[in-house]
Amino acid sequence: MKETTAIAHPNFALVKYWGKKDSNQNRPAMSSISITVDSMQSKTKIFKNTQSNCHRLFINGMEETDLSKILPSLFYLSEISKSDDYLIIQSENNFPTSSGLASSASGIASFVTAYGAHYELNLGLRDRIEACILGSGSAPRSLIGGFVLMDHNNNYSCTQILQKADWPVDVLICIASEETKEISSRQGMEISKRTSPLYQDWLGANEKHISLALKAIKEKDMGRLEKVTEENCNFMHEVMKTSKPSIIYMNDVTHSCVAEIENLRASGHKLFYTIDAGPQVKIICDPKSTNTIKDTITHGTDVIDIIHAGLGESPRIIDED
Ligand code: DP6
Repeated sequence: MKETTAIAHPNFALVKYWGKKDSNQNRPAMSSISITVDSMQSKTKIFKNTQSNCHRLFINGMEETDLSKILPSLFYLSEISKSDDYLIIQSENNFPTSSGLASSASGIASFVTAYGAHYELNLGLRDRIEACILGSGSAPRSLIGGFVLMDHNNNYSCTQILQKADWPVDVLICIASEETKEISSRQGMEISKRTSPLYQDWLGANEKHISLALKAIKEKDMGRLEKVTEENCNFMHEVMKTSKPSIIYMNDVTHSCVAEIENLRASGHKLFYTIDAGPQVKIICDPKSTNTIKDTITHGTDVIDIIHAGLGESPRIIDED
């Protein structure tokens, strides 16, 4: 039986979106800038379900009962393929799932890539963006490698700002907890949009943060990228905190990692952090400082693990035979 497998990598936002324009179409209310990383990946295999009349999704070998993220993408794609096949979808992540490490972005991007190849659809980027966004608002960014802009003023176009060879920064992902988060990003964003007194200011700051980060990336200016990335991250966490109920994703390990990052910076290392809807700390750094940063964080905090990555590529089909 025909099987198709694709790999896609997670992406981490330096300028984040937190809030949807309309929750039906799952469209972000603002633009974002991200980096796609290399050593973390989702690998998704699809084939026809010949045993039952339903789609079945397995993540890391366990069957999922909630298909609400993947089905909108699948329905979009089956309109194009005109296929009424029921599918078995098997997805594996080589990193913790649902803990703020963008597993849905890489999972959806790998599924969309596998589906397009399986039905030989020759999809353009526009259709792949549409299919991805219906599954996860940040997934379209995983369609592109390196530094990526997703522009909400231009129908969520995704463009590469720089590729890995242009500016080969390192990324260290500090795992502060492997527990599944209690409030999903989707729920959290809805709460913040409805209740945070800072939400309008947060929306208003997006354009400025995007243009500052774009300039810093194009000029490969670590200092200016640090400033806007950390300001944007801390603003988003303030929006979360001031929501009702208050949403707090960081834990004590997160805070001790940030303290060590500040110490390292004070002693001359070039690095900065960002934190998403989970306690993990993502560090972007000059590769010259990677080993010192790893040693310092490992010894100075209670991190469970540190994943070392570089900038990654766009999704690809793999031959598993
Ligand atoms: C904090 O795009 O993962 O990581 O559409 O529900 O899958 P869903 O949400 P998602 O939210 C991302 C939130 C964020 C910021 C970002 O990546 O821009």
